[in-house]
Amino acid sequence: MKNKPTVLGHVGSVSGAKISVRQSPAVSSGILIIGGKSYKIGQVGSFVRIPQGYHDLYGLVSEAGANAIPDALLSSVNGESERWMTVQLVGEIMGTSFERGISQYPNVNDEVHLVTESDLATIYGVEEQGQVVIGNLASADGIPVKLDLDKLVTRHSAVLGSTGSGKSTTVASLLRSIASGTEGCDAGFPSSRILLLDIHGEYSHALFDVAKVFKINPETNQTQLHIPFWALDPNDLLGFLMGRLDDKSLTAILDKIYEYKLCQAESHSHAGLNVASMTSDTPMPFSLKKLWSELLDPELKTWEDQARSVPALLNSGDADTVTPPKYKPHGAGATPPFINQTDVLGIRRPLDQLRSRLLDKKYDFLLHPGDWEPDLSGNVKQDLDALLAEWLGHAKPITILDLSGVPSLVLEQLIGAILRILFEALFWGRYKSEGGKARPMLVVMEEAHRYLSRDANGPSRTMVQRIVKEGRKFGIGAMIVSQRPTEVDETILSQCGTFIAMRQTNSADRSKVQASLPDNLTGIVDSLPILRTGEAIITGEAARLPVRCRVTLPHEGSRPNSEDPEVAKAWMTDRRSESYERLAASWRTQNPRWAAKKVHRTPISQEPIETMQREQVISSNVVSVGYDTDTQTLEVEFKSGVYQYYNVPQSIYDEMIKAESVGKYLNVYIKPEYPYAKV
Ligand SMILES: Nc1ncnc2c1ncn2[C@@H]1O[C@H](COP(=O)(O)OP(=O)(O)OP(=O)(O)O)[C@@H](O)[C@H]1O
Ligand SMILES: [Mg+2]
Repeated sequence: MKNKPTVLGHVGSVSGAKISVRQSPAVSSGILIIGGKSYKIGQVGSFVRIPQGYHDLYGLVSEAGANAIPDALLSSVNGESERWMTVQLVGEIMGTSFERGISQYPNVNDEVHLVTESDLATIYGVEEQGQVVIGNLASADGIPVKLDLDKLVTRHSAVLGSTGSGKSTTVASLLRSIASGTEGCDAGFPSSRILLLDIHGEYSHALFDVAKVFKINPETNQTQLHIPFWALDPNDLLGFLMGRLDDKSLTAILDKIYEYKLCQAESHSHAGLNVASMTSDTPMPFSLKKLWSELLDPELKTWEDQARSVPALLNSGDADTVTPPKYKPHGAGATPPFINQTDVLGIRRPLDQLRSRLLDKKYDFLLHPGDWEPDLSGNVKQDLDALLAEWLGHAKPITILDLSGVPSLVLEQLIGAILRILFEALFWGRYKSEGGKARPMLVVMEEAHRYLSRDANGPSRTMVQRIVKEGRKFGIGAMIVSQRPTEVDETILSQCGTFIAMRQTNSADRSKVQASLPDNLTGIVDSLPILRTGEAIITGEAARLPVRCRVTLPHEGSRPNSEDPEVAKAWMTDRRSESYERLAASWRTQNPRWAAKKVHRTPISQEPIETMQREQVISSNVVSVGYDTDTQTLEVEFKSGVYQYYNVPQSIYDEMIKAESVGKYLNVYIKPEYPYAKV
């Protein structure tokens, strides 16, 4: 024992990768002190080493105590005096490097050793290229946990855990580590290409310096998000625009769309397009307004004469402004005007729905997508290449598509469309230097249960299934983030090679995670409900070993906008005057940053609303400035008078105060952006 201080027991029985270990009586205290550090023996989730001559096997303790006694020995073992534990074999070290999987089994009575921190450092610390740091071992602070980036991306991954367990923070931390590296460890991957579907708008703040943000209602430093409707599968598009259609109408409409697309293809040369192999599904621009107007006309039309040669037109309407034509109402029986009988599909109601969609401001980003909006003849100012260049071709490693303003009605279709655009482009362009092989892409899907549910028949689920099944071959990887793994499609989860499992309290969800995990880890997975916030069990392809990891918490300014509200602190402050008018308005406009010209407040306490304290500044036209944190109001005293700017974030105020010229900053970043009033 003297020269083998790390021995903690011997192999008692071996069955497959599961072995039972009898603890030595010498370590009955349960604690070993090695190199001045004390180690608890038999901790579930800790490692053991089983030397086999030239190489060492490694295993994870999954059970300790009476449960760990092998069944065959139950009668002969004295449970009082003998201690047992169950160990799952996970890998081995041959030479210097650790490898998962084992080449031979241990024998009964082989020695089982404790794994010290320095051993762990050998397992985890081997310097290799292509590793990204996600955090530190939960049991040993000083040892970084690294993930293999190749495997993480190409074999797909899932981040699962209950609400508030730290998923978004983990994703933000990991993405930052990929994009800009970790202090003292590595320099990051500047050419990485990551697309993040940010459903709650949490990340733009966290990754502002390494990401380009697209949003429907963009704020300062964000770009307008456009998704051209004509890139969607027309079946999905029509479902959203017109509701359910019978087969006859659907076929007629799809034929029309095909005709428009064909016409567009014949009149403009599109590099690489073979007109003969076009379908209604080919992403070619066409005008929805024209479609609407051409479908509506036969529905409304009446004729002056029985031969139906002179239309009884009163007003021809206007496709561009989506104004319907007006015809004289038809007469009864044989009295003119006569009802139209050709091309009538009986789709007045679906067409009305299409019209209201076209006029609904909420859907402008999709139906009137800026330069990608086709005119009535189907011509667009910009084509798909410009969209792809905008999304993928910018200098930053991360693209955030902030979908927080997207009505939930279209979310699924939209994500399907986005993924389709990316998938098809990278798939077909896989041999090009912009394609997926040369510059692979990782798509991170937050809140995946919302659009990848088992019952969803929408395009996003189909697209993600394709990505997880085939993406590896042409460089698209998926990272699925969800708090409800039971609601996420089975095929998708089962294709994920790496699992980052965070605290999971719901037992149904937990069994789902357990069942999906690639490694056989009973015991460790049982600790899922007791993980601390920000702690994860990482297992699968990208991890060297299944590991319990404490994810690095990003710096304060780089955390996602999802922090728990500080209830006690908020409830302790004095009540201030409030304005519920702007709450309701924000809801109506579906814009959390909606701003009114002037907010009317109701005073709560007896005290009058305080006047704002202003600080003097040195500037040619600004005298003093003040800021109220609670109401996000900025007050500026110009030489010409005092103005208030509303809903100005604290960060903007801080930047303004530090700016070289306060006046210039006001002119560029505040005056054009925020509503104001003269006080
Ligand atoms: N590694 C960590 N260390 C310390 N605190 C953390 C860590 N990760 C997250 N937290 C804290 O936990 C809270 C919730 O984190 P987060 O928003 O990432 O959870 P989530 O799992 O994404 O929740 P949801 O499912 O509701 O989106 C935040 O207040 C965050 O600061
Ligand atoms: Mg989250």
